[in-house]
Amino acid sequence: MVLQRVGDFLEKTEVWQRRFFDWLVKRAKSDSIENRRFPVEPENVRIFMRIIIEPSSEYASKRAAAWIAQLIRRKPNCVLGLATGSTPLAVYQELIRQHRDEGLDWSQVTTFNLDEYVGLAPTHPQSYRYFMDEHLFRHINILPQNINVPDGRALDFERYCRTYEKLIQQAGGIDLQLLGIGSDGHIAFNEPGSSLGSRTRIKTLMRKTIEDNARFFASPAEVPRMAITMGVGTILDSRQCLLLATGRHKAEAIAHTVEGPVTSQVTASALQLHRDVIVVLDEAAASLLQRIEYYKEVEQTQRELEAAAAAFPPELL
Ligand code: GLP
Repeated sequence: MVLQRVGDFLEKTEVWQRRFFDWLVKRAKSDSIENRRFPVEPENVRIFMRIIIEPSSEYASKRAAAWIAQLIRRKPNCVLGLATGSTPLAVYQELIRQHRDEGLDWSQVTTFNLDEYVGLAPTHPQSYRYFMDEHLFRHINILPQNINVPDGRALDFERYCRTYEKLIQQAGGIDLQLLGIGSDGHIAFNEPGSSLGSRTRIKTLMRKTIEDNARFFASPAEVPRMAITMGVGTILDSRQCLLLATGRHKAEAIAHTVEGPVTSQVTASALQLHRDVIVVLDEAAASLLQRIEYYKEVEQTQRELEAAAAAFPPELL
């Protein structure tokens, strides 16, 4: 008798929950991209590689920017790992817009950049420091002392690289590392063959990377042959990684990264070993993924679950 009543009660609760869930899903679906929630609370840490495929590079960049902005709002003194290259440009533009129009506050944020060319002064127009100043730092209210970009003109590189690692540790570690990807699947300047446990160090650049990056210089001959770069191990230590790739020219590298074996020949594939990675792609960069439809289904379910969790009264969770 008692069991019967408990059974009835559970059944009713289930029906009620189902209706509530359906309503939440409907609401989540009608949400605009800016309004969607991307919870990154520690308790929501995912133990998987989340693959988000957006219809265009614009949406992908907005999605990545929303993720970063949400972290800054939730944890104003967060530590961000930043990247250079063409890919994050639209992300930075959106973050600047949010600072200007929505008061996104960078006053307590600390940043660490992934890499820098050896030999270039911070004022050199092709240095990564200059790039960051131009495309992000001078447009937001970040404090100069909270900005860290490797110094391409350090004299004792070995010592300097150890210091850079120590600075990251002293800041409490990187909360979120933004990453682009090279056409050969490298992250930062961890060229094929880099140890997957590597730390910040000097790396000789591959010819392909030099050619790819020559567009920023007057000629390939002007591209420095070496760079100082966070290691794969340094990147894997970040609490969360956000890899952004857009365009057909990144499709092969992304396919190897996501669906290939973990190998030092494609250093981005080491992200498969990380417990909390978000890969944000546009359709073109995702085009060579064999299980593309499956990833879309997984993401749809993930959004439904997140919407349900976000709207559920916290005391009931
Ligand atoms: C360089 C940088 C990487 C960047 C890559 C791709 O190698 N060190 O951090 O991800 O270029 O750059 P882009 O976004 O311009 O394709």
